[in-house]
Amino acid sequence: MSINSRIQHPLLREKIMSAEAAALLIQNGDHVGMSGFTGAGYPKLIPQALAKRIELANQGETKFSIGVWTGASTAPELDGALAKVGGINMRLPYQSDPTCRARINAGLMDYVDLHLSHVAQFVWFGFLGKLNVAVIEVAGVLPDGRLIPSSSVGNNKTWLDQADKVILEVNSHQSAALEGMHDIYYGTERPPHRKPIPMEHTGDRIGEPYLRVDLNKVVAVVETDLPDRNTEFSAPDQNSERIAGHILEFFAQEVKMGRMPPTLLPLQSGVGNIANAVLAGLNRGPFDQLTGFTEVLQDGMLEMIRSGKMTNASATALSFSPSANQEFLDNLDFYRDKIILRPQEISNHPELIRRLGVISMNAMLEADIYGNVNSTHIMGTRIMNGIGGSGDFARNAYVSMFMSPSTAKGGTISCIVPMVSHVDHTEHDVQIIVTEQGLADLRGLAPRHRAELIIQRCAHPDYRPALLDYFQRAQQSAQAGHGGMHTPHILDEALSWHSRYEREGQMLPKA
Ligand code: COA
Repeated sequence: MSINSRIQHPLLREKIMSAEAAALLIQNGDHVGMSGFTGAGYPKLIPQALAKRIELANQGETKFSIGVWTGASTAPELDGALAKVGGINMRLPYQSDPTCRARINAGLMDYVDLHLSHVAQFVWFGFLGKLNVAVIEVAGVLPDGRLIPSSSVGNNKTWLDQADKVILEVNSHQSAALEGMHDIYYGTERPPHRKPIPMEHTGDRIGEPYLRVDLNKVVAVVETDLPDRNTEFSAPDQNSERIAGHILEFFAQEVKMGRMPPTLLPLQSGVGNIANAVLAGLNRGPFDQLTGFTEVLQDGMLEMIRSGKMTNASATALSFSPSANQEFLDNLDFYRDKIILRPQEISNHPELIRRLGVISMNAMLEADIYGNVNSTHIMGTRIMNGIGGSGDFARNAYVSMFMSPSTAKGGTISCIVPMVSHVDHTEHDVQIIVTEQGLADLRGLAPRHRAELIIQRCAHPDYRPALLDYFQRAQQSAQAGHGGMHTPHILDEALSWHSRYEREGQMLPKA
């Protein structure tokens, strides 16, 4: 198929131009809604052309920067290129780019870290101000002007709907066979007119395969032929394997107790290597006929679909390694009716997560002895990535699990601490904590019993005595009248592990 044949609408063909010309249509101070979710389906040429323009502008007197709104993280060609030239004044909702991270932590760039399911509706409600431009990668344009979405859907429906101007990147590198795999739901309304979302099973189709756009708003069409950033996953290490083992054992026990069916419940799996290792473990495990209701489909779930362990999966983005991507493309006909890509306000919708009874599994940076979880802030002040969809899922899941190795940075950091230095998921939303040491099932436990279990089961042996010592002294202090026995703490000391790490490079005093 030639590049041009991807743009079948005559009016939109007339609007084809270079990325440089399209970038001129974005103005200083604009809010720009870009496609892109976990390195999939982001525009590849326009952000780079815009970055060049901004770099030139910022060498002179007049400064140029924009607000960048996306689905989630993108790639060096978008976040990296724009951040490097100081082109982003505000970023939302999730990023994982090193240059963005450095600029945010240096105070040079604002970052608004939203739950991913909130973003679209915040825009509909007018909470974030006007969206000026949408820059959206699509896989093609139909003769009637409807758009074939690419490897992620994210917030594209909302950006196309809400922006004053629309710029399309039509990427002929995205497989034409993606057509038909998407399910774009147009039934959302603002309160008080909302209706229940008509989905009861992960495989239900409730929308249409194409994105709609008002053709009068399309000011430019740019052709590209470039791949998504696909990064390789590292082979599961020993810690990930052990975490996966604990989770499988937990599932077996839940089935035995009659608390989960033998097919389990729809699985949500977070980003990264540990999540991928857990899925690899499930692929070898005894459970069959599994389903997925997740945000990003990574290699692990693809393998489960391939092996027949998983019957179908719903997500908003495909984020595969290069080898898994090839396998997906080579067998698209097999995967076509087993994978559904939806807008992120649906893939992460609290109503659906609660109705379907999703099992949520996300990585964390640290948890405290009472079960509060920090997913985003290094030592309480520096952003790592963002909350992503972890809050959407954890708050509404049938069972919500958080996992991490018990230590980080060569053992100088304990990921189980007296008090987390930042809270993303409160003790009320965290039911299971897993490290390579073991699994703590916190359901139904009062705080002090949670603490005993987390320290015994999840902490690294090098840190267990110090955590027990803290917990015991906190109780003694409460009994002596300095605080309560419900959630005992020594407030002056609770964050001392973090401040010592900042001063001395390790959490515990040097021997
Ligand atoms: N304190 C400081 N640094 C820590 C830490 C802690 N308690 N725990 C881990 N780290 C560091 C690691 O050393 C590593 O640093 P490096 O990149 O310099 O080596 C980095 O954080 C990532 O840790 P890693 O163990 O490789 O985990 P990961 O790749 O699985 O990422 C999160 C973990 C929490 C950062 C990541 O899952 C995330 O951003 N989560 C939030 C969003 C989310 O959950 N999305 C899915 C929802 S659908």
